[in-house]
Amino acid sequence: MSVVGIVPAAGSGERLGSVGPKAFVVCGGRELIDWSLDALRSVCDRVVVAAPSGYEDPSRDFLRGGAVRSESVRLALAAAPEATIAVVHDAARPLLTPELARACIDALVPGVDGAIAAAAMTDTVKEAGDGGVVERTLDRSRLWRIQTPQVFRADVLRRALDVSDAALAAATDDAALVEAAGGVVRVVEAPADNLKVTRPVDLALAEMLLAAREA
Ligand code: CTP
Ligand code: MG
Repeated sequence: MSVVGIVPAAGSGERLGSVGPKAFVVCGGRELIDWSLDALRSVCDRVVVAAPSGYEDPSRDFLRGGAVRSESVRLALAAAPEATIAVVHDAARPLLTPELARACIDALVPGVDGAIAAAAMTDTVKEAGDGGVVERTLDRSRLWRIQTPQVFRADVLRRALDVSDAALAAATDDAALVEAAGGVVRVVEAPADNLKVTRPVDLALAEMLLAAREA
């Protein structure tokens, strides 16, 4: 068994508005990606990073990512043919703990193809149509906010990623592709503080949470 971490880190971080690519902005005194790499390296045999152009570094397994997130995942996974289990985790989620990554790996029991970190909903969720008129209130006990890590049987993920560029571009997470390919995916309850740095407020919050954790 070979457990390989796959880290999509090739995005530009448009919504964060940083000078350079988001994965390499400073957060809590180090590059954002470094927090995730520490946690992943403690549970994986190898970690491959899909990096932005100019950040390739073969000595650290940083290879060039793709135009869309799922393409970055596909390229990184293609570089790890030995992988039997793929632990996909966004560089943009620095609060990953080894415990959460391990819980997702352990949830990949026989009959399950993917185990994905997810937080319970705390807000009420409604569906609204034209003019903002509410059409229904959803049963939030069945709804989950999906995060990474997302852990898959590597062969299942490879097949799921073998789709058209349009299908790759439309996927907002890897589990959606595995589901579409008929795979069984289950959620693993994760803490809500495993947040994704998307906007400046998220970066400020991540720094606070990381500082509190280090203290
Ligand atoms: N990602 C990637 N390759 C891409 C686009 C995104 O590897 N072509 C990665 C990002 O680096 C990030 C993760 O996918 O770690 C989640 O994407 P997101 O939060 O949307 O990051 P960005 O695409 O960088 O941000 P934005 O959409 O605001 O530009
Ligand atoms: Mg993006």
